[in-house]
Parts: sequence; structure tokens; C-alpha cells
Amino acid sequence: MRKVYMDYAATTPVDDRVLEAMKPFFSKKYGNASSMHSYGQDAKNALDNSRHILADSINAKNNEIVFTGSGSEADNLAIKGVAFANRFKGKHIITSSIEHHAVLEPCEWLEKQGFDLTILPVDKSGLVDPSAVETAIRKDTILVSIMHANNEIGTIEPIDEIGRICKENDVYFHTDAVQTFGKISIDIEKMNVDLLSTSAHKLYGPKGVGCLYVRDDVKIEPLIHGGKHEFGLRSSTENIAGIVGFGKAVELRKGEMPTEMRNLTKLRTILIKEVIKIEDAHLNGHSELRLPNNANFWFKFIEGESLMMDLSLNGVSASTGSACSSKSLKASHVLLAIGLKPEEAHGSLRLSLGKYNTAEDVEYVLNVLPKSVEKLRKISPFKRDWNSENNFEKNIRT
Ligand SMILES: Cc1ncc(COP(=O)(O)O)c(C=O)c1O
Repeated sequence: MRKVYMDYAATTPVDDRVLEAMKPFFSKKYGNASSMHSYGQDAKNALDNSRHILADSINAKNNEIVFTGSGSEADNLAIKGVAFANRFKGKHIITSSIEHHAVLEPCEWLEKQGFDLTILPVDKSGLVDPSAVETAIRKDTILVSIMHANNEIGTIEPIDEIGRICKENDVYFHTDAVQTFGKISIDIEKMNVDLLSTSAHKLYGPKGVGCLYVRDDVKIEPLIHGGKHEFGLRSSTENIAGIVGFGKAVELRKGEMPTEMRNLTKLRTILIKEVIKIEDAHLNGHSELRLPNNANFWFKFIEGESLMMDLSLNGVSASTGSACSSKSLKASHVLLAIGLKPEEAHGSLRLSLGKYNTAEDVEYVLNVLPKSVEKLRKISPFKRDWNSENNFEKNIRT
């Protein structure tokens, strides 16, 4: 049976070249970057090199790159770090209803600690309205956090515009770019961002390494105190192998991203065009302002978990909702926020493509998916209920 991985938004395989770059730092080059001897200096040089690659890739300075243990940690550092450092200036934070849990949960936790939180709604395609951000800003607003693109539905937010509004109002602006880094170009100056989170495992790098860009004039407190690593913002001996892998992955993206994204957009467009031909299949998210590799649908009368499992039995790995919440039976907060009813949100499927997908993979999915949908609808209790409700109504009317 053919195996097709279409869950690249959850994670990506480590590129062989990234793995090769990392290997020496597990064995021969095991130094601690804080040590003064040659082993330490080798590690320090590797750390500086990755820091430079990341800075260069987003038009930042080297001292504005803070390596973390994940994208989630970068989000937590940005939000809690800015909130605590600026709590005497104000206590109001603005975010959106479709943020990743790594943003929403720290915001909600801060609310319990006495901060004020405004959660902005989005429209049907998942877009945040920049004028709503402007209206929500108060005298005591210290931070706005709006994601660059959504991990479930792929909608790309008007970040430049929101950034401009925050700058004019002297409010820090954080964006979670975990899903966009390595897929669409990022320039922190053009985007007017003060803080930006990324994660290596979404771009063919290793798991367990993230990065927070922190503009050098941002007032921020660390979450982890200790030996003052990472400019005092993240104490702990650096994960040099992981950071080297992150640097290599970013370096490779620079050359490969444009062609790859063109290819993925083509494949993704075919996928969307064909899948929405299935009866009662609908696209979630914006039709144009979306990540090149994202396709997300909801199918009437279908339960997303069953569809995902049936596809998996046929060799296709996809997801329903986001990987982080797919163990939960709650409907996705993102799909509810764009106006889907809980039963519609439960019928969702995300297909996210990556560089190893081919036209044959898409063809295979387009062959398997309609059959799975048809099979599941035949045994769907939702469909039975719906039919009997309709018959019921018809019987009453006649
Ligand atoms: C938008 C977004 N933010 C944050 C994260 C968390 O990143 P990590 O898995 O590195 O903790 C993810 C992961 O799925 C994500 O998609």
C-alpha cells in the first residue's frame, strides 16, 4: 500500500543534510558553549553561526535572536515575559480567538493573575480585522499577539497592517510565525513586529528547538532564571546540536523555499479543486490568503476522527483539527471561531503538504478520500438522524 504523509503542519521529517550537520555535536564536538577551552569555543562558534543565519533570514540583528526549547516556549516567553516586565505600565493584552493554545493559554493564565484580556473575533475565513485591533487598544494596553498564519485553516493574517497600528499606538506586537517561517518570507521591519516565535521542527529541522525574535529595545523578563544564557532571557546550557540543525534547516530554506512553495501551491490547488467536488464538502479558511501547503475541509455527516482513521488505514496520514488538540474530543476552537457549528467542526480534515509530496500522492489521496467519505456516510448516525428529521418534517407537512 502507498504511504502518503500529508501532516506537515504537525511536524516535518529532519532533512538528511540537517541531520549530517547536527551529528558531530552529539559526539566529537560535545563542548559547552560557555567553556573557555577549544571544545567550548567550537560549540560557541556553532551557536553564533546559527544565530547569524536566523537573524539574517528575518532581517534582524544577531543579539535579537533568543533560542528556546520549542515554539510553545517562545510564545510563552513573549507573552508572559512582556506582561511581567511592563505590568507597571499597563495590564491589558489583546489576542485573537484562533491563536494556537501556546498563545491563548498563557494569555488566559495571565488573566487569572490580574491582567485584562481582549480576545478579538475573526471573520468566516479566519481573518482578524486590523481596525478591530485599533479599536481594542486602550491606554493601558501593553501587548498585542496575533498569529502570522493559522495552523489549522492556513489563513494568513494582515500582520504588516496590525504591526503598523501597534507601532503608532506604542504597543508591543508579537506574532506566532511557527507555521509561516520557512514557507513565506518574513521581514521583521516590514511587518513591524517586536517579537516573533518560530520552531525548527516545522521546517525540516529537529524537534525541541525554537526561537523568539526580540527587538533589542523590548522590555521583557525571562521565564527561566540561572546562568544568564541567551542574553539573560533563557538560562540553561544550549542545545547546540539542535540549534545547529535549526540553523542548517533555515539556510536550506533560503535556497529551496521559492520553488518548493510554487510546487506545493500547485498541488494544494488541485487538491482543493477536486475535494470540494465531493458532495457536501466545504473548504475552511481563506481561498487566497492561505499558506501554500494547507488544505482544510469539513464534510457534512462525517466525523473527522473516523475519516482520519479510515485514511490512515489506507496509508494516508492527515489530521483533524490540530495535532495538539486531536486527542481532545472538543470541537476545534478555530473552526468554531470561523462560525462552524460543533457538528460541522467535528467533520473537519486538514491535509498539509510538504516538500516530499508528489503529484502521485495527490492523485492517491483524491482516489482514496471520496471512497472513505462515501463509506463513512453510509454508516453515519448523523446522516440517519438528519434523514429521519427531514422525513419527520415532511410527514408533518403532508
Ligand atoms: C501556530 C503554532 N504555534 C505554536 C506551536 C507550538 O510549537 P512547538 O511544537 O515547537 O512547541 C505550533 C505547533 O503546532 C503551531 O502550529
